Amino acid sequence: MKHERTFDAIRFEQHGIHARDAGLHAEAAADFARAVALDPGRSLSWLGLALSQIDLKRPQDALESLHRAQQLSPQSGVVTHLLDSLSGHTSARAPETYVSWLFNTYAEGFDMHLARLGYQGPAMLHRLAIRAGWVADGSHSILDLGCGTGLSGLPFLSYAARLDGVDLSTGMLEQARRRGIYADLHHGEVHAVLRGLPAGSRDMMIAADTLIYIGDVAELFRLVAGHLKPGGSFLFTVETGEQSFTLAPSGRYQHADDYLQACADGLFDFADRIEGTIRVEAGRLMPARAYRFTRR
Ligand SMILES: C[S@@+](CC[C@H](N)C(=O)[O-])C[C@H]1O[C@@H](n2cnc3c(N)ncnc32)[C@H](O)[C@@H]1O
Repeated sequence: MKHERTFDAIRFEQHGIHARDAGLHAEAAADFARAVALDPGRSLSWLGLALSQIDLKRPQDALESLHRAQQLSPQSGVVTHLLDSLSGHTSARAPETYVSWLFNTYAEGFDMHLARLGYQGPAMLHRLAIRAGWVADGSHSILDLGCGTGLSGLPFLSYAARLDGVDLSTGMLEQARRRGIYADLHHGEVHAVLRGLPAGSRDMMIAADTLIYIGDVAELFRLVAGHLKPGGSFLFTVETGEQSFTLAPSGRYQHADDYLQACADGLFDFADRIEGTIRVEAGRLMPARAYRFTRR
């Protein structure tokens, strides 16, 4: 009997996953609700229910479902990060399991999805390069942090003698590999990868829409500074925040200008900043900034 209920629960869970993928949020929520009613011991069903409730803008219900998922899977970085995001608890950075889960799921449709959202990250960084008067002479050594599928590397290809990428999502790296613009693609968490690479070797490091998954960027700034040649540039985007760094209900971090300037202090000189909007988020344009700092 128990076995049959679990089997039916898995069927509803699977149906819920497909319904959610198809954007049928109410149907997905109903499927996951039936799954947890049949077998309340499956954390995946509770997680699916929570995600559908987030899609349906029912954050209080989602919190309850996430608490149930966490009781069953206390180690899950995905559940922990979603709980932090919805409950207003700002962690230092998104767990690796959350980032790889999110982007492995997205990887195949990522470029098309971002095009639909009017994604501006790479264009904002490219504008900074143009304003800095860089010549696209193929002479620079560039590292793309959180390179994803390679959208961010594309505008920098003509500047690069060598363009490499880092990302912790294997799905995203597979798409980047297919794009064929990177010499080396490093798989791993950006701090860990940077600690393992030779220091002082890069002319530019770029991070388009990557710091939205790293709240506390103080250590990252130190590592980036260590990898840049003196005078080298660090270009990155952030979602605009008001107070140091905060984790938004979206699961992404927002950074304040004075916090970024404080992290850069002693390592970099501030060179340039542009204000803009980086993508459409729940029907409205998301305010963002792109920065250029130069290594002292
Ligand atoms: C929104 S995507 C942006 C991808 C690309 N830069 C672009 O502009 O299209 C963020 C990327 O950063 C990667 N990422 C996030 N946090 C990371 C971390 N701590 N270490 C390595 N990669 C990370 C994700 O896997 C994802 O591919």
